[in-house]
Amino acid sequence: MTFLPTSLLILALATATASAFDPSPLQDFCVAINEPEVFVNGKFCKDPKQVTADDFLFKGFRYPGNTVNPLGSKVTPAFVDQFPGLNTLGISMARIDFAPGGLNPPHTHPRGTEILVVAEGTLLVGFVTSNQLNNTLFTKVLCKGDVFVFPIGLIHFQLNIGKTPALAFASLSSQNPGVITIANAVFGSKPPISADVLTKAFQVDKKVVDYLQAQFWYDNN
Ligand SMILES: *[C@@H]1O[C@H](CO)[C@@H](O)[C@H](O)[C@H]1NC(C)=O
Repeated sequence: MTFLPTSLLILALATATASAFDPSPLQDFCVAINEPEVFVNGKFCKDPKQVTADDFLFKGFRYPGNTVNPLGSKVTPAFVDQFPGLNTLGISMARIDFAPGGLNPPHTHPRGTEILVVAEGTLLVGFVTSNQLNNTLFTKVLCKGDVFVFPIGLIHFQLNIGKTPALAFASLSSQNPGVITIANAVFGSKPPISADVLTKAFQVDKKVVDYLQAQFWYDNN
């Protein structure tokens, strides 16, 4: 057996313990093409010489969102699509306005954990764990100043249980966390999911599925 010099041994060990993995997706999908150009995972970068302080400023939270809608809530996202300076930084925000009784309905962020702070009002919030943890509901009533965290991918909601409007700000651990609103995705998909699928999945009559699929599923984002 040959004797390795210490420096080579350290290099060999470092190489052996280095682990390679795919980057996390920053968008819903990235279908492979043979040409090297067109779509990438995330966004292209602006020429750094053209970048100014304005690229790092987002003014979209100055004014309340319009809560006059079927849910009584409005989410104003500051994701990479609205705030290009976030590209590659792994972070984003949202402003959420609630009318009295307003609901941010059950939804998930497939790519981000969310931490939410209540700026005004009182919110009933909660998330449900995965099947592995028996779909357990974790829920709390939040007062002004309270902070709650919704772990990545789990279904969660916020309901204004106060008699006044409520306001919350959320931060998310992705530049493009994504939003899947459960009712909209399941009952409002285009084209619709076969009623045979939904009657069995929800254990209801086709009449109920037809009714749900005929609704207009407002998107508050
Ligand atoms: C989930 O339910 C199973 C079956 O009742 C039980 O054995 C297990 O401890 C539960 N797990 C949790 C995290 O509650």
